[in-house]
Amino acid sequence: MNPTTAASTTAAASPTAAASPAPRYFALIPAAGVGARMAAGGPKQYLPLAGQPMLRHTLNAFLGSALIAHTYVVVSADDPYIDALLPPSGVTVLRCGGATRMDSVRNALRALRDQVGDDDWVLVHDAARPGLTPALIAKLIAGVGTAAAGGLLALPVVDTVKRAAPGAAVGTVPRDGLWLAQTPQMFSYRLLTRALAAATDATLVTDDASAVEALGLSPVLVEGHPRNLKVTLPADVRIAEMYLADSSD
Ligand code: C5P
Repeated sequence: MNPTTAASTTAAASPTAAASPAPRYFALIPAAGVGARMAAGGPKQYLPLAGQPMLRHTLNAFLGSALIAHTYVVVSADDPYIDALLPPSGVTVLRCGGATRMDSVRNALRALRDQVGDDDWVLVHDAARPGLTPALIAKLIAGVGTAAAGGLLALPVVDTVKRAAPGAAVGTVPRDGLWLAQTPQMFSYRLLTRALAAATDATLVTDDASAVEALGLSPVLVEGHPRNLKVTLPADVRIAEMYLADSSD
């Protein structure tokens, strides 16, 4: 039994018992992808960006946040790169990456069963978003507060959105109420585990919030920042480097 469960059982038995410990915040970074769209000749999370591997920038954001109790990074079992970029402390590597992002997160949650309480929060963040800052982490945590459905950083859509048939616009999608999901996305360990266990089609679960929404819940949207872009295509590298050179946001 984990410590949180034990604490709540005791509290229910005795009205004078101490309250449950305050929930903690853990970072979980899936970094077991191969980055096919980047065509970089290696996993994109290790590409050099502004003098450091992309993943190291991502880790630095969490290491710089006093709100984060510990950071976990998920890589594939045979990843040869991760050890060289680890900071001296504060990060634990889980070598249990799966075939899809969803599998990597699921495997990591299982591996953390004894370290993380059911009511603790897990902030899942893509390795390929190196522009995250401690300020954005704090904004997310404050914006979500104690919302049972958790929440995520996201940006309102500003462009006009087209639906395409191959090569041509066939319609315009009203952008009112449309947001682009970013990460981190934060949920209680209990909810995230339940949502990912219920998800059957990994192609539909491109982020963690979609698995939670499939349970009928509505995660809170907290406005993120363009600097938290996901480095996906070769052209994104220069934009990411521009933001990394600028710590004013
Ligand atoms: O490919 P994409 O950019 O959508 O991947 C998002 C994140 O999920 C990346 O950090 C990537 O390393 C991670 N991922 C993973 N396991 C996979 C596929 C992707 O951890 N099998």
